[in-house]
Amino acid sequence: MSILKDKHILLGITAGIAAYKSATLVRLFIKAGANVKVVMTPASKDFITPLTLSTLSKNPVCSSFIDEEDDSGLWNNHVDLGLWADYFIIAPATANTMSKMANGGCDNILLATYLSAKCPVYFAPAMDLDMYKHETTKSSFAKLTSYGNKMIPAGTGELASGLVGEGRMAEPQDIIKFVEKDILNQLPLNGKQILITAGPTYEALDPVRFIGNHSSGKMGFEIANAAANLGANVVLVTGPTHQKSTHSLVDVKPVVSAQQMYDEVHKHFESSSIAILSAAVADYRPKTIANQKIKKKDSTFSIELEKTKDILKSLGEIKVHQFLVGFALETNNELEHAKGKLISKNLDLIVLNSLQDKGAGFGVSTNKVTFITSSNDIIKHQLKTKAEVAEDLIKQILKQLHA
Ligand code: CTP
Repeated sequence: MSILKDKHILLGITAGIAAYKSATLVRLFIKAGANVKVVMTPASKDFITPLTLSTLSKNPVCSSFIDEEDDSGLWNNHVDLGLWADYFIIAPATANTMSKMANGGCDNILLATYLSAKCPVYFAPAMDLDMYKHETTKSSFAKLTSYGNKMIPAGTGELASGLVGEGRMAEPQDIIKFVEKDILNQLPLNGKQILITAGPTYEALDPVRFIGNHSSGKMGFEIANAAANLGANVVLVTGPTHQKSTHSLVDVKPVVSAQQMYDEVHKHFESSSIAILSAAVADYRPKTIANQKIKKKDSTFSIELEKTKDILKSLGEIKVHQFLVGFALETNNELEHAKGKLISKNLDLIVLNSLQDKGAGFGVSTNKVTFITSSNDIIKHQLKTKAEVAEDLIKQILKQLHA
């Protein structure tokens, strides 16, 4: 999944021949999961039709202050459009539009939207090589970047004039890559590896039976998603679950038993900066696993169990620089038990779930948690969706890391 998923992308199109590539650009943003709206200068309609762009973006295209098809006198609100956008990408950006942007010109809806937008703005210049090299164009580049706009440099190649040189708009796939990389670079967890465990473990009794629990894995998958959305490279070690992650930054490592989870987690701990262990690991497993299916013979049947390794505790014993987070699922004396686990497992933070709280626990999409930090801060949260809890958790970790 691209970092652009669900983002609001406003594509600004100006009057250059490279506007024919805007159709591909819209397609690629949509394919990345973004919501796309298009704002055009009136002259750019000579190069590509609004119909093409509205069909591909699945949104009306804006090219003037008032709707020409409509006599209602209603105007197209450039302020709303500017505020709607998470990112504004002007591609192609002509010398004329860049000069106006650099100097506060505002004689069309694209420029008015640019002046209203509060989001990051990218511009991909496109023009002939001599125009590209002209001092006034260079001055527009310098002014625009000094205002915080980001330039997606033009490439070198054959130009519409027939000349060969610099000025060719970056290819649509390179524009997407540029924007994705730039967004990732700004994210607080960019470049950090985060290790997460999720789901239940299954402890085999014989080839067809196991001891397991009702954990759905949802909480761990939501945490993985929230961390990846902030740029982390996530290693998600999960027990058997129906959950799926499509995020490009989440590497799912499926395991079955507590021992397999222990082994997989230890492979990745050293290279991780943060480890969040939300899995419901079996505390005991059958001491022996029958090779054949166990037959029913006697009226009662006992299974001898032995302890599994406590994965979280084992990490607390070896951690050096890592920030370690555990979960505690409690039914009574919740705070006391959770604090005990925080200390005995050498954690930086523990997330307490109480089964006494309605809407918390296994199988539901909500959770009610309390965070307890190693400096004994207790932060109680309301009942929230697991996605919201995951975001709160990542925010809390960042807060402690930057304290
Ligand atoms: N945990 C683990 N390995 C285990 C058992 C638990 O990594 N073998 C982790 C869980 O992922 C969770 C935390 O330890 O983050 C606490 O789990 P919990 O079941 O609440 O506590 P336990 O330590 O198992 O203690 P008890 O079951 O006695 O409450």
